[in-house]
Amino acid sequence: MDGTFSDNDISRVVEADRKNVWHHLIQHAPFFTGADPKIIVEGKGLRIWDQHGKEHIDAVSGGVWTVNVGYGRERIGDAVRNQIVKMNFFGGTMGSIPGAIFAERLIEKMPGLSRVYYMNSGSEANEKAFKMIRQIAHKRYGGKKHKILYRDRDYHGTTIACLSAGGQDERNAQYGPYTPGFVRVPHCLEYRKHEQEGAPSENYGEWAADQIEKVILQEGPDTVGGLCLEPVTAGGGVIPAPEGYWQRVQEICNKYDILLHIDEVVCGVGRTGTWFGYQQYGVQPDIVTMAKGVASGYAAIACLVTTEEVFDMFKDDAGDHLNYFRDISTFGGCTAGPAAAIENMAIIEEEDLLDNTTAMGARMIENLNALADKHAVIGDVRGKGLFCGAELVADRTSKEPMAEAKVQAVVKDCMAQGVVIGATNRSVPGKNNTLCFSPALISTPDDIDAITEAVDQALTRVFS
Ligand SMILES: Cc1ncc(COP(=O)(O)O)c(C=O)c1O
Repeated sequence: MDGTFSDNDISRVVEADRKNVWHHLIQHAPFFTGADPKIIVEGKGLRIWDQHGKEHIDAVSGGVWTVNVGYGRERIGDAVRNQIVKMNFFGGTMGSIPGAIFAERLIEKMPGLSRVYYMNSGSEANEKAFKMIRQIAHKRYGGKKHKILYRDRDYHGTTIACLSAGGQDERNAQYGPYTPGFVRVPHCLEYRKHEQEGAPSENYGEWAADQIEKVILQEGPDTVGGLCLEPVTAGGGVIPAPEGYWQRVQEICNKYDILLHIDEVVCGVGRTGTWFGYQQYGVQPDIVTMAKGVASGYAAIACLVTTEEVFDMFKDDAGDHLNYFRDISTFGGCTAGPAAAIENMAIIEEEDLLDNTTAMGARMIENLNALADKHAVIGDVRGKGLFCGAELVADRTSKEPMAEAKVQAVVKDCMAQGVVIGATNRSVPGKNNTLCFSPALISTPDDIDAITEAVDQALTRVFS
């Protein structure tokens, strides 16, 4: 493939970008004092090429854990092209062929769930889940059971309501006032349980779940309608739940008639080695939201999936003119999303990518543990499937988080070596200290080794 571009070919693009594009999540001042914005020109498999033709291994699937099946998949491009020239869009009051087919395929992977609602971003999917829970509260409980619980360190999206349900105080900062009715519960990061009052030395998972029950009892169970959790906390520190946690969570939701909403925006469609992260833990959610990996970024699509029981609550009283889900997402009617999602799912099946994810995730954890033996700055290694993290500390005994500048220096060093890794960033104050690894599900043993080899070199350079 042709990944070579001279500076001259691309310099006009770089200048147009510098002059007119407002990038996500970054401070732009350096672009006006010498640094160039980075332009990603091309991708194939796990590799990407920038404006200088420099090749990188992408260990973060498009930066934000999205391109699960890798770059350059012609069959997805062909399917999208064929669909959009035939029928690109109609508002979601009507159906589409790929919309119906993908819904059926998705539901086959999600026993116990049966209804798919389409929209185009993870934040939007979560907003819609919040709206459903609120509407159910109004219809069934006189509006009282309207509170939604969310967890410290979790993230559910960028809108004001999603930030109100966000457990990352640096991400939320300066965007208040927040939407009322969202209540925080404690995180379940065992490595940092010494910071949580009363945390036990054993059975931490059950204890962490019991903290949710405590909040429910404080608020009043008749005021709490939903609990929204990531299956593995992603940007808040790569936190798989400890043993015993999810089982207790399920019991608590059943006991207090609280809808369990699992945010699979990151873990959904393969990232952890099962179709959905919650399937690692044997829980049965009422609502599942998903986005990033659904079509691997080849088209914008997000889905909210519910049980038939939840769906029925919006159709059981047709005489009430307000008793249906009065919601729309214009671009939820785009057919490119489900057309791409059908191919994306077929690729995962045909190439056996779930098993590969489990195997490569285990290799990544093994490699990171080997690095921890060598580098004292690695305090904890954790992950599920191909979502792995290494938490860096200034001191292993006190677990004092490593300074953010040093963590970023590791990321920068890897980038200079041609390996794009991630780190928690502007998330939990003082705790943006976890390196993140989420390469595409197609990763090979050599890819995984190349990624951790780059980290090894970076740690050696930054901390020597
Ligand atoms: C767990 C989780 N939920 C929701 C979102 C929001 O998704 P989007 O950026 O598509 O709105 C994200 C984005 O990173 C996420 O990590």
